[in-house]
Amino acid sequence: MAARRFLSFLYVIGLVGKHVKATYTSKPHFKWEDTKYLIAFGDSYTFVQGTAGYPQYSFIGSYLPGQFGFSPRKLLSNGIVQNFTGTAQGGPNWVEYLTGCGLEPGKTLPRDCAVQLWDFAFAGADVSLQHLPHHHPFTVPLVNQTQQYLTWAEPVIGKKMDKSKALVAFWIGVNDINDSSKFTNVSFPAFYNDIINTIFTQSVRPMYEIGYKNFLFVNLPPLDRTAANVVSESPRPNSTMIDWWGNSLARHNEMFAAKHKDAKTMLYDANKFLNGVLDNPGKYGIKNTTSYCQDFADPDVLERPELHGCLPLDDYFWYNAGHMSSHTHKVMTRNMENFLRKQTT
Ligand SMILES: *[C@@H]1O[C@H](CO)[C@@H](O)[C@H](O)[C@H]1NC(C)=O
Ligand SMILES: *[C@@H]1O[C@H](CO)[C@@H](O)[C@H](O)[C@H]1NC(C)=O
Ligand SMILES: *[C@@H]1O[C@H](CO)[C@@H](O)[C@H](O)[C@H]1NC(C)=O
Ligand SMILES: *[C@@H]1O[C@H](CO)[C@@H](O)[C@H](O)[C@H]1NC(C)=O
Ligand SMILES: *[C@@H]1O[C@H](CO)[C@@H](O)[C@H](O)[C@H]1NC(C)=O
Ligand SMILES: *[C@@H]1O[C@H](CO)[C@@H](O)[C@H](O)[C@H]1NC(C)=O
Repeated sequence: MAARRFLSFLYVIGLVGKHVKATYTSKPHFKWEDTKYLIAFGDSYTFVQGTAGYPQYSFIGSYLPGQFGFSPRKLLSNGIVQNFTGTAQGGPNWVEYLTGCGLEPGKTLPRDCAVQLWDFAFAGADVSLQHLPHHHPFTVPLVNQTQQYLTWAEPVIGKKMDKSKALVAFWIGVNDINDSSKFTNVSFPAFYNDIINTIFTQSVRPMYEIGYKNFLFVNLPPLDRTAANVVSESPRPNSTMIDWWGNSLARHNEMFAAKHKDAKTMLYDANKFLNGVLDNPGKYGIKNTTSYCQDFADPDVLERPELHGCLPLDDYFWYNAGHMSSHTHKVMTRNMENFLRKQTT
């Protein structure tokens, strides 16, 4: 009763009408086929080499003093490099397959692509120093990748973007779950939930508030089935831990969508798809799911794998101890594209 009386009071003084107007939100609008920009954040699964990047770690800059920010000129002249060390898997990764940007060997300016790829992922990144230490002093944590974007890239490229044609993608957690996998002082579900909460409050929300409305989240690859873990009696992380992360991500995804009705949030279940590939590799042209070529870092294995005692790199699910092969990225991206096409609102 009191609430209703208060509401009538607001009507009388004309506040309700205004309030309704101010919080009016449009419906989400997403169509993968119309997407012109992919803005990506994450770790080595997502990083691409830039000519202005930290070698083998980033598209642009690093966490070192003087390297965190960048000029408009530096951003606009920065090219994506496609070569053996241009990603963390010896060849193109999912964001390059998805956009077709930077897929060709050599240098590509994002602005020259039909779907522009602006990739602020940093190899080795965790979500935040608040939860876990960084791998190197130069590693840019996820929450700082979005700060970099919002501070130095948004004014240059974001302001002019038709943001209804932009998709903001987050694939993160590989390092967080691995770095903490042997902790004995945390409850993992609560710990993961805290980390994922940080993703949403410190990275997703600021991107939303500046006007981006389309978000893609990706859960964890089957890290419980890496070469080291398939021969271990107690894999770290194990499948239960991977699921805890995934369940928390799904919950946060739903909560964000419920709270922001004009946002389109999508959760791609990479874990399910990739476990399916591991269970049925032949269907995807993969012959080896349990190990990787020991000489993976030698560019010569691309040309002459047999001299290294290996199969062609495309025959492996895993590229090395923690990364999937470029071929696995390609196979996954085909499935992800189907997923995205079905998301039209
Ligand atoms: C890839 O390109 C980068 C940047 O141009 C270069 O430093 C690196 O040596 C190249 N790597 C290979 C394997 O060609
Ligand atoms: C990175 O982000 C954290 C959390 O917002 C912040 O405390 C820190 O100052 C940021 N680092 C830099 C270099 O801005
Ligand atoms: C848990 O222990 C690890 C070392 O094993 C330490 O680095 C970390 O800070 C501890 N975390 C918490 C939340 O106490
Ligand atoms: C995985 O590890 C967690 C944490 O130690 C444990 O609670 C869970 O039972 C383990 N799951 C499996 C499948 O062994
Ligand atoms: C998988 O590849 C590794 C490295 O090349 C090799 O040692 C191993 O025997 C292969 N496993 C199978 C089942 O072919
Ligand atoms: C996981 O972390 C350990 C250190 O705790 C490291 O030795 C290992 O290479 C990492 N594994 C992956 C798959 O990144």
